[in-house]
Amino acid sequence: MKTLVALFAVVAFAGTAFGADVIEMKKGVKFNHKAHQASVGDCKKCHEKGPGKIAGFGKEIAHGKGCKGCHADLKKGPTSCKDCHK
Ligand code: HEC
Ligand code: HEC
Ligand code: HEC
Repeated sequence: MKTLVALFAVVAFAGTAFGADVIEMKKGVKFNHKAHQASVGDCKKCHEKGPGKIAGFGKEIAHGKGCKGCHADLKKGPTSCKDCHK
């Protein structure tokens, strides 16, 4: 029982430290944070200043290196409007 409680605590903590699985953004964008953590790997690629909210996040950043720019660079992930804005 003690192990179970300890395990639960670890899982719950990981939940907050790693952030939400899917983040709902403006204009119908669903950002699969968890999938990106797996495919991108390094948190710092997106969180230069450490995990958490990204200062000033919005259209400018999203259409630049925050989302679209990376997809264009890697030739992976959507770069057309309707593939992000469902
Ligand atoms: C592909 C880009 C990307 C990667 C990689 C990434 N994140 Fe995020 N993360 C975001 C974005 C975008 C947000 C939302 C930022 C905002 O709303 O200001 C976010 C939000 C968060 C939050 C804020 C809480 C929440 O859920 O809203 C935490 C904590 C977080 N990320 C942790 C991590 C950690 C830890 C890693 C590495 C294991 C990671 N992120 C990898 C893009 C990324
Ligand atoms: C550092 C690089 C990087 C950044 C930044 C990034 N992505 Fe991606 N994204 C990827 C890669 C790589 C894939 C393809 C994963 C695969 O096919 O295995 C992908 C796939 C996707 C997909 C299609 C698959 C899915 O998860 O539904 C969507 C939608 C998407 N990204 C949205 C976003 C949004 C919205 C943002 C910004 C909040 C963002 N991405 C930021 C690298 C990035
Ligand atoms: C890689 C994914 C992606 C692509 C491609 C993309 N967008 Fe976006 N767009 C976003 C994200 C993420 C936001 C910011 C959402 C937020 O602030 O929560 C955004 C924000 C916007 C906004 C501002 C919404 C608001 O209320 O502030 C508009 C308008 C917009 N996009 C239109 C477009 C158009 C038109 C295209 C095609 C030319 C396009 N987007 C391509 C992801 C994308």
